[in-house]
Amino acid sequence: MRLEAKGISRRYFRNKGSANTFFAVKETDFVLEPGRITALHGRSGGGKSTLLQMLSGLLTPTTGEVLLDGQSLYTLQDRELSRLRNAHLGVIPQGKAAVGSLSVLENVLLPAQLYGQADEQTRKEAAQLLERLGMAELAGVRPRELSGGELRRMSIARALAAKPGVLLADEPTGDLDDLNTKTVLDLFAEAADRGCAVLLVTHDRDSLSVAQDVWRMDAGVLTHET
Ligand SMILES: Nc1ncnc2c1ncn2[C@@H]1O[C@H](COP(=O)(O)OP(=O)(O)OP(=O)(O)O)[C@@H](O)[C@H]1O
Ligand SMILES: [Mg+2]
Repeated sequence: MRLEAKGISRRYFRNKGSANTFFAVKETDFVLEPGRITALHGRSGGGKSTLLQMLSGLLTPTTGEVLLDGQSLYTLQDRELSRLRNAHLGVIPQGKAAVGSLSVLENVLLPAQLYGQADEQTRKEAAQLLERLGMAELAGVRPRELSGGELRRMSIARALAAKPGVLLADEPTGDLDDLNTKTVLDLFAEAADRGCAVLLVTHDRDSLSVAQDVWRMDAGVLTHET
């Protein structure tokens, strides 16, 4: 699918310098095309996660709009937006996100289960994803028993299991070893091969090389690098 941001910005309230508001993301256009991996890097605090959250349908932009295959996300009712996000957007947040009362496999299947039962094929693929991410033996355990990197891999499996049209990943390999990083980048490339539009926020130079497009964001300003 195609995700397009038109003139989006985000203002936050906090004293920075002489003003009590500032723009974490300054007005910008941005497009994620199907079948392409776009990487985004830049200094800490530059606005990357803020941009990603607006693209995810989780944070209303101060100006502008976000369009998923032409459908404007923030004009939708909450329930419609949730449904659309669940069906089409795979999000790997920078922070930890797990439902503590569910097992690892149940967490991975959550998007597929939310509006009905996951079918046999989806369950099989979810198990295969966990296997590739070295998590097969942990499928039945609760998230609180997992290490940081294991939790991260679980949320990567969850984002990919529903075969999203758009994948938005916020430093997904930040706490992973080289081998798992390679697996994750392979999985992203496979997702792109089947038409997924991928955004990869990363500080890791090696990860940038899997991207067809590289952008930088500093002090809320987005610039295209390649
Ligand atoms: N809810 C909020 N209220 C006020 N300011 C915020 C809020 N969330 C983020 N900020 C500020 O907005 C700026 C951009 O934050 P953001 O999380 O987008 O940066 P980032 O580029 O993702 O950084 P990192 O690489 O450390 O993850 C920072 O100055 C941050 O302190
Ligand atoms: Mg961030």
